[in-house]
Amino acid sequence: MNWIDLDQEYLMNTYHRLPITIEKGEGNYLIDEAQNSYLDLFTGLAVNILGHSHPYLLKKLEEQAHQFLHISNVFLNKPAITLAQRLIEQSIEGKVFFANSGAEAAEASVKLIHKWKKQQSEIKNGIVVLENSFHGRTLGSIQLTRQAGIYQDFPAADYPVFETNAHDLEALEKMFQEKKPAALLMEPVLGSGGIMPLSKAFLEGAEKLCRHYNVLFCIDEIQTGMGRTGALFAYQHTAVKPDIILFAKGIGGGLPLGGLIAKTGLDTLFEPGDHGTTFGPSPLSAALGNAVLDVLLDQHGLEYGRENADYLWSQLEDLKNRSAGKVTEIRGKGMMLGILLKADEKEVKSMQQKLLRRGFMVNVTQGTIIRLLPPLTLKKLEADSFVQALEEEMSVLTGGVEI
Ligand SMILES: Cc1ncc(COP(=O)(O)O)c(C=O)c1O
Repeated sequence: MNWIDLDQEYLMNTYHRLPITIEKGEGNYLIDEAQNSYLDLFTGLAVNILGHSHPYLLKKLEEQAHQFLHISNVFLNKPAITLAQRLIEQSIEGKVFFANSGAEAAEASVKLIHKWKKQQSEIKNGIVVLENSFHGRTLGSIQLTRQAGIYQDFPAADYPVFETNAHDLEALEKMFQEKKPAALLMEPVLGSGGIMPLSKAFLEGAEKLCRHYNVLFCIDEIQTGMGRTGALFAYQHTAVKPDIILFAKGIGGGLPLGGLIAKTGLDTLFEPGDHGTTFGPSPLSAALGNAVLDVLLDQHGLEYGRENADYLWSQLEDLKNRSAGKVTEIRGKGMMLGILLKADEKEVKSMQQKLLRRGFMVNVTQGTIIRLLPPLTLKKLEADSFVQALEEEMSVLTGGVEI
């Protein structure tokens, strides 16, 4: 039996898997069994922000592995304390809770919001999220994920979830007045919801409304964090100051790590016994988290990522301009891009497969949006080769590409 058959025989069918068996990750490339190499333009769904097998990350991982792999939360965990301190220094004053994934970060926020709600003298009721949001798939987070086909078949949360539009501040205010929610939770760029950045005006306006109506202002940076949009956290492109920040994905440098930062005042609501998890955080994940921050903050990784993203954007914008309308929009921020083509689902799927055969891994979201989550380390020549391949493959779309 080959690996594809074994996969189907023994693993539950929860993903549409590409029929590729990866042997190795090296820099910005993944290499399969047959030694084909692929430029990885979606980085394990926004995890490997520094590419694969980054030598500095491996060194730090090995150092930690020789100290201890696991000690439990019964002891002081030096890598975790250091990472928490650094995250606070880079974001808001408060404290960190560590877990192992994005969904767990969302779950922790729900519990924290619940504790806060109980302290309020006025009645507070539920959480407002955006249409097409994604905040996880566990039972505590799935109802916060407002995408058709994801949440409807599963039990409703026992707190109300209200869904609103990402552009309409008036509607948001009306919802605050009518529903009296406890919190608003938003991704600064909706990820699997279609790479849709929230406008600065919406984010800042929403924060003002939260302050006025005493609603917690919570930002999900699970996909947008760790430099993906050009700032360490995407909210930092604006003037807002969240009450709660969720993080995961990129921060673990490839290992499972998630959690939240809660501002002073919220950060003492959890007491021993209120919440916890055996591994949160694994010392290995925390050591890698520190290594990721070293690269981003002390080794100019953030600036390098911004430069590389600017270059990719400029090449894609040029392509759009000469595409005779076949590229209808490039949207997103930094190394989080959606390419919208004048093409149907079948054509986009076929383009994804053709790109794969040519050695470029891209993701597709919402059926027709080519989603790129490239590593911050994407080189100019790599960006050029991808744009050229995309342009050539686009030529089969009706109409031909004018160059
Ligand atoms: C914005 C956002 N929030 C939450 C999650 C859930 O994270 P995880 O898959 O680690 O549970 C994701 C995962 O894609 C995400 O993109």
